[in-house]
Amino acid sequence: MSFQGQAIRHDCKADFYRELAGQLRGLLHGERDAIANAANTSALISQMVPDLNWVGFYFLRSAEELVVGPFQGKPACVRIAVGRGVCGSAVEQRQSILVEDVHAFPGHIACDEASRSELVVPLLDQGHVLGVLDLDSPIPGRFDREDQSGMEGLAAICVEASDWA
Ligand code: SME
Repeated sequence: MSFQGQAIRHDCKADFYRELAGQLRGLLHGERDAIANAANTSALISQMVPDLNWVGFYFLRSAEELVVGPFQGKPACVRIAVGRGVCGSAVEQRQSILVEDVHAFPGHIACDEASRSELVVPLLDQGHVLGVLDLDSPIPGRFDREDQSGMEGLAAICVEASDWA
């Protein structure tokens, strides 16, 4: 199989994320392996979404700790305690966290010094947190509420397409 991400216009973010969601559904169709689907989700986002230096997953491996999963970008911190950093805070709060300036976020964990802004979206399976989708950008204020809802939609597609047990 050769999957070619189709170019999407960026002038309307809602349309952009609607089209990207369709491409992700097509990419994951017929596969239930969570690691495989997380890997292809991070690869598609990395290919299609501009101005990212890191995109990938952290999985909740116990009640206290996230462990890095498939990603695109520089090698990253492997383990993050729940409640620590942007990722651990998103798990604790069970909601997305949008950080316009990572230097202004108390406890931000710098895995790639190029990162200036960050968006972390929890992976929710019927209210149960499985982990997070984490996006970093070298541009301050790169992410807005439309990116947040678009990425929440992509995370939901990846969760629903996969077996997590
Ligand atoms: N910045 C994150 C750590 C993960 S890296 O960005 C890949 C945090 O503060 O949780």
